[in-house]
Amino acid sequence: MRILLTGARGFLGSRIRQTMEVIPAPSLRDMGREEIAALVGETAPDVIVHTAAISDIGACQANPEGSYRANVELPVWLAETAKNAKLVMLSTDQVYSTHPGPGPFREEDTAPGNLYAEHKLEMERRVLEISPDAVLLRATWMYDLPLYGVPNRGNFLMNLLKAAATGEPMLVPMEQYRGLTYVRDAAKNMEKAMGLPGGVYNFGSETELTMGQLTQQLRERLGLNLQILPGQPRHNLWMDCRKAAEGGCVFSSTAEGLENCLSDYGLI
Ligand SMILES: NC(=O)c1ccc[n+]([C@@H]2O[C@H](COP(=O)([O-])OP(=O)(O)OC[C@H]3O[C@@H](n4cnc5c(N)ncnc54)[C@H](OP(=O)(O)O)[C@@H]3O)[C@@H](O)[C@H]2O)c1
Repeated sequence: MRILLTGARGFLGSRIRQTMEVIPAPSLRDMGREEIAALVGETAPDVIVHTAAISDIGACQANPEGSYRANVELPVWLAETAKNAKLVMLSTDQVYSTHPGPGPFREEDTAPGNLYAEHKLEMERRVLEISPDAVLLRATWMYDLPLYGVPNRGNFLMNLLKAAATGEPMLVPMEQYRGLTYVRDAAKNMEKAMGLPGGVYNFGSETELTMGQLTQQLRERLGLNLQILPGQPRHNLWMDCRKAAEGGCVFSSTAEGLENCLSDYGLI
């Protein structure tokens, strides 16, 4: 099976490459529709796993045109020019960021509160119109620890360890429920995701702990001298991921995933 992977040098993409054989796409940043069509024609993929994006909320807000190009037009061009390929594309839990309910949110509960999420939602809708067999994965905030030569991103676990190392207090939205996913779990589930029927899926670890409980649990587990301060209360971003689980994409809970990550790096 020929799997074309975009964003192959990114945070998630570089971990996907560690789990399966892929054709890494060159950067799509300067590509237009014709270049995308040429890439698809040259690589003739059976599957396209599309992770390339501007995934930073602030960067999207500061550069709406750039966000629209990266997060809507590029995936739409991929869908238009790759009619015969199964599409697996990444979206985000930010699509629930202003929902008035407590969660966990199902796929139909969308209420985006920023441009990044609005663009991802438009992308989902337009890609599914072109290719009803496409799989749109709404990922949670993901994390990993630094690995030489592999990109990392700002994430909850790094924030916690940095706060403990510097003595800076960590601001935590204590009452917020939010799934956090070990990025390697997401990468490992990508093969199963390729077999899902077309549609939108919440994709990641669920949680039964608030961010405050989770942070306190980690502080104790690692024996850290970490000062936790209550941050601005934030809306829950808690997804119900049973639809993906029924299709075989099974994740550990947020607390278990953190335990697995720390264990993989020999920290516990
Ligand atoms: N990281 C998270 O916690 C998280 C959470 C929810 C959803 N997601 C979604 O999951 C996917 C993967 O996230 P990630 O953290 O792996 O992303 P990332 O590392 O920030 O970016 C992935 C790749 O996107 C490409 N890219 C950056 N700017 C671009 C632009 N203007 N035009 C086209 N391509 C551009 C870059 O590849 P080149 O340098 O090769 O161009 C980059 O390596 C994204 O769709 C993201 O929205 C991520």
